[in-house]
Amino acid sequence: MLFDPSPKRKREDLYDFDEELAKLQSYLGQPLVAVVGLRRTGKTSLILTALEESGHPYIFFDLRTISPSTKDLYQLVSKGLEDFLASGSTWTGVRNAFVRLLKLVRGVSISGVSVDLAWGRGERPMLTDIFGALNEAAGEEGSKLVIAVDEVQRATGQVSVALQNAFAYSYDHLRNLSFVISGSEMQLLYRLLEDPEAPLYGRAFLEVKTRRLARDEAEDFLEKGFEEAGVSVGQGEIEEAAARLDGIIGWLTYYGYSRAIRGSGLDEAWRSAVNLAGSELANFLACRVSRERYRLILKLLARGVKEWGGLKSGLEDREGKRVSDRVLYEILETLRKHSLIDEHNDFQDPLLREAAKGL
Ligand SMILES: Nc1ncnc2c1ncn2[C@@H]1O[C@H](COP(=O)(O)OP(=O)(O)O)[C@@H](O)[C@H]1O
Ligand SMILES: [Mg+2]
Repeated sequence: MLFDPSPKRKREDLYDFDEELAKLQSYLGQPLVAVVGLRRTGKTSLILTALEESGHPYIFFDLRTISPSTKDLYQLVSKGLEDFLASGSTWTGVRNAFVRLLKLVRGVSISGVSVDLAWGRGERPMLTDIFGALNEAAGEEGSKLVIAVDEVQRATGQVSVALQNAFAYSYDHLRNLSFVISGSEMQLLYRLLEDPEAPLYGRAFLEVKTRRLARDEAEDFLEKGFEEAGVSVGQGEIEEAAARLDGIIGWLTYYGYSRAIRGSGLDEAWRSAVNLAGSELANFLACRVSRERYRLILKLLARGVKEWGGLKSGLEDREGKRVSDRVLYEILETLRKHSLIDEHNDFQDPLLREAAKGL
């Protein structure tokens, strides 16, 4: 179903994006592929659909929801491995070989499809040993195994370093593995790949970008989705929705689902989408040390104050003292790195802008 709110896994549920899908499919099996695009532009859907259709054995690690600690990371890895071991009747050979090899790795215990990884310092298995077992298992069966890491930039600090080192090691030594990494906070993702200090620096990677739908595509998507759901919605409302949701397929899906399944109108769907965007902004702010400054700048930007002078005097008025240019510069850079605003200080997403007005 086009309006199904979870990430798509099947070609028939994926609207358009033929070119992006074909590109990603042709890249699977290469050492490193990056899938980049704003939040809710269909990265996870594209990756899962390409993987499902590809015939490659794959493991999917989902870093979406949290900024993982080492413990979280190991739990996510064991979840990914368990899903792989439980994934139906295909790739039995690779799976059996993997179980046999993984049992030899220190800090791992397996029973049935449950995989426990120790995470304590000195106890935990090295990620490269786990990847090594996967590499060897794939090699024995003559296949390339794809490891997808969704929203990889969520990992920070030590966890990020551990992951990046494991990717770099695998890139250089584990030829039967293919990595697909994705990220919504695009500059942060590029930093993993292109910063001279980063472990992966200098390795070639392939790239697939997701995009906003054009206005006519967005309208067509909504029409097809409503038709599929058997709900009739006036052309005027469809046009208005496409205009307000700015071609972001995740918001179009959210609206379509709310309208078709829950019967809520555009304004109601808009309000609850703004709430959702607002909670994402709140999470972003919770991670900032000087969150009150960020809050103010986001609010000013949302209200259309985009010029340096206006933003700076806004900050100074609030704090009742001079604020250095550096402070404002870093706030704006951080907002850009997290793909919240673009180089003209415009919000990348109209729902985030609306949510920021109420901060
Ligand atoms: N090509 C598509 N066709 C239909 N729905 C899609 C498509 N791409 C994404 N969606 C929907 O949009 C929402 C966000 O998609 P997702 O793949 O999670 O995006 P991202 O990973 O970029 O944040 C989900 O509800 C998903 O079902
Ligand atoms: Mg995603």
